[in-house]
Amino acid sequence: MSARDTSAPRRILRQSFENRLSHWLIAISTFVLIFSGFGQMPMYARYGIAALPGMAWAADYHLTLAIHYLAGAVLVFAVVFHVLGAVLTERYTIVPRRGDVKESAQIIAAMLGRGEEPPSHKYLAEQRLAYAFIGANILLVALTGIVKVVKNLPGIEMNNTVIFISTTIHNVAAVFIILGIVGHLAAFLIKANRALLPAMFSGYVDRAYAEERHPLWYTELRPEQVEPASMESDT
Ligand code: HEM
Ligand code: HEM
Repeated sequence: MSARDTSAPRRILRQSFENRLSHWLIAISTFVLIFSGFGQMPMYARYGIAALPGMAWAADYHLTLAIHYLAGAVLVFAVVFHVLGAVLTERYTIVPRRGDVKESAQIIAAMLGRGEEPPSHKYLAEQRLAYAFIGANILLVALTGIVKVVKNLPGIEMNNTVIFISTTIHNVAAVFIILGIVGHLAAFLIKANRALLPAMFSGYVDRAYAEERHPLWYTELRPEQVEPASMESDT
């Protein structure tokens, strides 16, 4: 019996465990923060959500506040972990570059059948812009959240203007984050983008997809990112 190399490698490792860990810690804590944050405005009692079976707790201010604090701590940890990881490994492939707005317009035009899609590096220009938009608003909500935690500490008297400004930024950034998430998830309605979904679960993407859509990244892959070709018995 002999084994032969049936094809080129099938899959490419796109997202390290560390990247997936920070993505999901940020995503899950953000969903919990949105739910518990809006719970502090007494909307769940008002709009009948607390009347749904098993949902009475959602109108309990002290409980939603405790949940908000806990998820806030997870979010701050994940942000620090992600930023430190990028700085220590000097990997900034997702940071926006000059010309990204124009390149995003070209990608969208190509999806609508007008012109060719420009060759992309690890991320498409629009992914880098989405990252900056969601990332900046997460930083704002985290920093103003910390100000609000300090304000709530016993014995702290904080200036009313500082409280007003940080609460306004906290709420506006929260709304922008929700819009960013809607846009992020809507991107997967487009078939071409769906090939990226496994990257955030198993870490791998299809080789042919990487070669075709991210050719500038594909040529720079390190050997350990390439899954060995499947070996198939020819008997
Ligand atoms: C609070 C929720 C979430 C936040 C804040 C968030 C944030 C981000 C950001 C900033 C990026 C990088 C830029 C981009 O590709 O657009 C990203 C990538 C990604 N996210 Fe999310 N995300 C969230 C939820 C989700 C969910 C629910 C899914 C899947 C069902 C998902 C799947 C992905 C995938 C597949 C990528 C691209 C990976 C790649 O290019 O290799 N995300 N996310
Ligand atoms: C995506 C992330 C977040 C969202 C969507 C969010 C949303 C909200 C909303 C809607 C409120 C109620 C209105 C207000 O008092 O301003 C709130 C309050 C608050 N948030 Fe957040 N928040 C987020 C992250 C954080 C983080 C990371 C922290 C802490 C580090 C934090 C700490 C607080 C505090 C202390 C309050 C005020 C509670 C009170 O005194 O009544 N938040 N948040």
